Amino acid sequence: MERIPLLDLKAQYRSLKSQIDQAVLAVLESQRFILGPNVKAFEQEAEQFLGTRHVIACASGSDALELALRALGIGSKHEVVVPAFTFAASAMQVSRVGAEPVFADIEPDTFNLDPMRLSQHLTSRTKAMMPVHLFGCPVDMEPVLALAKQRELYIIEDAAQAIGATYHGAAVGTLGHIGCFSFYPSKNLGAYGDGGMLVTNDDVLADELRLLRNHGQTDRYTSETIGTNSRLDEIQAAVLRIKLQHLRAWTTARRSIARRYNELLRDVKDVRAPGELPHAEHVFYVYTIRVKNRRRDALRQYLDQRGIDTSVYYPVPLHLQRAYLYQERKRGDLPECEQACEEVLSLPIYPELTDAQVERIAGEITSFLGK
Ligand SMILES: Cc1ncc(COP(=O)(O)O)c(C=O)c1O
Repeated sequence: MERIPLLDLKAQYRSLKSQIDQAVLAVLESQRFILGPNVKAFEQEAEQFLGTRHVIACASGSDALELALRALGIGSKHEVVVPAFTFAASAMQVSRVGAEPVFADIEPDTFNLDPMRLSQHLTSRTKAMMPVHLFGCPVDMEPVLALAKQRELYIIEDAAQAIGATYHGAAVGTLGHIGCFSFYPSKNLGAYGDGGMLVTNDDVLADELRLLRNHGQTDRYTSETIGTNSRLDEIQAAVLRIKLQHLRAWTTARRSIARRYNELLRDVKDVRAPGELPHAEHVFYVYTIRVKNRRRDALRQYLDQRGIDTSVYYPVPLHLQRAYLYQERKRGDLPECEQACEEVLSLPIYPELTDAQVERIAGEITSFLGK
């Protein structure tokens, strides 16, 4: 029987091949590669898609986070609250600007920052909080935004995994001061290389971000501020413009696969399906179950033998990574993050995954764990 991969990018490419090949060839013909018409058009199309005033395309999701921190003046002696259960980039960009990531615990159902535990991490040095909409699931933003307002903190949303997800009808990434997105190829909107974007409704911040991504230049060779080279290129923008037209349909397909998994796995022993907030729309960048009673690794091995790829996002929380050992956090400090790392298992999900494949995956899980 054919192996089921975690993600099948070739299936997506096959369905768009002629359009994408043509668009890439047109860029080659134009020989215009940097900050050209495709980037401009993509930024406008993404503004419409998300319902935001400004989109600033850049070179990666990591760069988006770093540029956001710099635009808000965050640097040494400042602290930024970040969940410890996320991809390392969320915290590392805080470190790269010289600030300190302060790791916070998560809410076990959604794997996202627990708003109720945030205030305990705030000090006089805290400048910002970074809610990460992990796996495509919106963070419960209302209490986070209320706390930010009360304590005069910035909110940088790490929406790298959550393009198109909504909270009370508004796109995630547009709820705080700046939202950051990644177009890493595996993402729901993936480029054919690295890419990212920043979104904001603030005109002044948008101007600053445009300068920062391009050597601080207002005009060629006139630098207003200290910036860097972090631009999306025309080939990536051309690919993203085509894919953006399909994103809503792909999200609908992902959500229906997730619903099907939920149904099929409902009564399986030791399995807990991912939670969703009632007033939010999860976009299922990954579909991550919890496997209780230390059975995760054995299940993973069994599925591998049965031709089903899975992954563990993420095996070690950030406060226990070697990179952050200097902070001297200990096992037991952030118990929900630590438990999640031991229990999570991400199953294949992508729009082209068939119902028969979902049934096969759920069937194998049921055979192994029982009901
Ligand atoms: C939560 C999160 N934040 C940040 C990033 C960084 O994005 P990139 O890989 O585009 O630099 C990623 C992605 O890979 C991510 O998953």
